[in-house]
Amino acid sequence: MHDSIQRILLDEATILQRLNTLAAEITDDYRGLDLTVIALLNGSLIFGADLLRRIPLPLQIDGLGISSYEGTESTGQVKFRQTPVAQLQGRHVLLIDDILDTGLTLSTVRDHLVETSGALSVKTCVLLQKDVPRAHWIEADYVGFDIPNEFVVGYGLDYNEKYRNLPYIGILTPEAIAKG
Ligand code: XMP
Repeated sequence: MHDSIQRILLDEATILQRLNTLAAEITDDYRGLDLTVIALLNGSLIFGADLLRRIPLPLQIDGLGISSYEGTESTGQVKFRQTPVAQLQGRHVLLIDDILDTGLTLSTVRDHLVETSGALSVKTCVLLQKDVPRAHWIEADYVGFDIPNEFVVGYGLDYNEKYRNLPYIGILTPEAIAKG
């Protein structure tokens, strides 16, 4: 699997160190509030697991299955594979995702929750933010790292459902991309 990676962009130690700071910030901001974290799946599975274990608050966790990518391209459509089961009325919601790219996914889910859930607030947190003009207006409230406009895999991010379990964020070789 590692042969398919041409460059490591963020290694595990760097990611985990940043999560300590991000988690401390989120802990301070939500202390004393009723918080539900909704993790967009599958991409934020590993990020969420590491981040949330660093937040010592009595929060609730829910997951929302979502997809908008095929291969290395956005399809331009967000598919909800399920809706959240948690009762969000009167609670503060933090949506977490692996990466903010065009903004389609996060803005669609955020707008849906703002309109339908009765949550007191809906904020967003992403591990990565790509340096691209956003086609959909959204600014994440919490960002782990700003990265260049390259297709990345690992630490939850996939290429056709592969590479999610790499412990770092890396860039695929052209051969691995061609193989699919
Ligand atoms: P949008 O364009 O909706 O993208 O902001 C967010 C979703 O698209 C996927 N995505 C990527 N997945 N490497 C990946 O493995 C990437 O570089 C990449 N860019 C976007 C991802 O699922 C994210 O939630």
